[in-house]
Amino acid sequence: MPLPYSQYRFPKSIDTLALPRVTFPPGFKRRCRELGKIILVTGASSGMGRETAILLARGGHTVYAGARRSDRMLDLAELGVTPIEMDVSRAEDNDRAVRRIVDAEGRIDVLINNAGFGLYGPVEEIPLEEARYQFEVNLFGLAHLTQLVLPHMRAQGAGRIVNTSSMGGRVFTPFGAWYHASKHALEGWSDCLRIETAPFNIQVVLVQPGLIRTEFGQVLVGKLQKLFDDSAYKAGLDRMFAMISTPAATDRGTEAEVLARVFVVAATAARPRRRYVRGATARPLMFIRKWFGDDVYEFVLRRMFG
Ligand SMILES: NC(=O)c1ccc[n+]([C@@H]2O[C@H](COP(=O)([O-])OP(=O)(O)OC[C@H]3O[C@@H](n4cnc5c(N)ncnc54)[C@H](OP(=O)(O)O)[C@@H]3O)[C@@H](O)[C@H]2O)c1
Repeated sequence: MPLPYSQYRFPKSIDTLALPRVTFPPGFKRRCRELGKIILVTGASSGMGRETAILLARGGHTVYAGARRSDRMLDLAELGVTPIEMDVSRAEDNDRAVRRIVDAEGRIDVLINNAGFGLYGPVEEIPLEEARYQFEVNLFGLAHLTQLVLPHMRAQGAGRIVNTSSMGGRVFTPFGAWYHASKHALEGWSDCLRIETAPFNIQVVLVQPGLIRTEFGQVLVGKLQKLFDDSAYKAGLDRMFAMISTPAATDRGTEAEVLARVFVVAATAARPRRRYVRGATARPLMFIRKWFGDDVYEFVLRRMFG
């Protein structure tokens, strides 16, 4: 007759068997907690936004990718990313995008405000409506999206806004007045927002890319050529055009994938920094302006741009 279980003694070898302690690699538990965020990345049809959406989706997050050219995001769908056709300068598109995500997922954890472009040209000649559009896309569009997601993040008790600024939010280059104005504005705007939303456990993070190999230069040069064919500033514009469109200049840029890794950290790190600086020329230029002052910085610009 079998012994009742309470009287049964396991053979010594099993009785004293010490089960191996399960040890996780460093950071494993933290990474698990970080997984599974609901994220909207704007400007995801090319460049840094696109690479960031891919990397986040590969990391197990639920990613929505926004841009105007939805045909350029079809292949993202194969990776599990949901493309949303949207123009960040159109309020109704922003409303529709956020409603769609919250209806489908019940929450939104991270907004990566990355859509943007560079309007370059002489201040004297840039039509103000072009300048206003620069701000519509690079500042007011993302401000509207931020207003739309904040109530959900407050209700959740957590959230994160990652804003794509630029080294151009801290330094300046010839003919970049409106672009730099938009990125300088974004820097100050984001700093204020960070303080406002901190009590609700909503972090605001800035990424400041340097020179990155994306379609940014093409879009910039395309607009330059369209707007300033017979400019009074032609000599300077031609020098800048030559400087930014040579293969040597484009080759100097950092790969967008490198920045995508920075965005993933900015979006998912448990304790993110306020700012992440990455990419060719960003650190040296920001360093020179900060520590040597504007005289030296402008001397360096003259050497670079002629
Ligand atoms: N590349 C650089 O050297 C550099 C350096 C510093 C900062 N940045 C900043 O990085 C961000 C991403 O640029 P990128 O370098 O990756 O350039 P990119 O390849 O030209 O990508 C820009 C993205 O923004 C989207 N976009 C532009 N206007 C939009 C609008 N009105 N509504 C929605 N989406 C819009 C574009 O998509 P659609 O055209 O399909 O809408 C595209 O997906 C920008 O904010 C830029 O200012 C770039």
